[in-house]
Amino acid sequence: MVCPGRRVCDIGTDHAYLPAYLVLNGISPSALACDIGKGPLENARKSVEAYGIADKVELRLSDGLDEIREDEAQEFVFCGMGGTLMAELIGRCEWLKNPDKHIVVQPMSHIDDIRRYFIKNGFEIEKESVCVDSGHIYAAVSAHYTGEIKEYPAGYIYYGELAVNTDTLSVQYVEKQLSRLQKHLKGIENNPDLREEYAELQSVISDITEVLSDVNS
Ligand SMILES: C[S@@+](CC[C@H](N)C(=O)[O-])C[C@H]1O[C@@H](n2cnc3c(N)ncnc32)[C@H](O)[C@@H]1O
Repeated sequence: MVCPGRRVCDIGTDHAYLPAYLVLNGISPSALACDIGKGPLENARKSVEAYGIADKVELRLSDGLDEIREDEAQEFVFCGMGGTLMAELIGRCEWLKNPDKHIVVQPMSHIDDIRRYFIKNGFEIEKESVCVDSGHIYAAVSAHYTGEIKEYPAGYIYYGELAVNTDTLSVQYVEKQLSRLQKHLKGIENNPDLREEYAELQSVISDITEVLSDVNS
């Protein structure tokens, strides 16, 4: 999902495997590998030296994008953190609200939080993709700023653009979100204080169910 030919900034890089892959395969001309921790940056230093790409991958200690300047990259990747943290880090960086800045996220949890952030703040979700590695299922989402805030169906933050994918993994990923919400619905069904939440969740679940039945038909 990273657009080729553009400098990439990887936030939460740890071993810098992603910047190394992008540079070694000629996808990105150069990269900024950033992390909040000194230990992960030390891992990154070892990788870029081992791969002989220390001149192309700059390492930076940074909490989110706090230490990154607007003109330093065009592609921004956040992988392996929770969606809630990703939404907070992206929301803290005003200059990402620029149509030329392209964002790719791969949240480990709370994918709905990052989709919610995007659609409520004028970002358009372009594409989503799901893969399996070592028995775990992962989703990646790419987006850019348009400034336009559109209306979306009730369940959109749980299926996003995966609704247009017909592959088994995308369907499985959305089914997992649905089953989590159904369990939550069951857990609150007898709570008189949560009537409103219950009704909202019911309409979210019926939207997701409809989308899944369209994909499966
Ligand atoms: C599980 S690792 C993911 C590494 C790599 N991105 C991947 O997907 O394989 C998460 C990394 O995010 C870093 N991290 C956590 N919070 C951060 C923040 N606020 N800013 C930058 N990096 C952060 C951690 O130090 C850690 O190295």
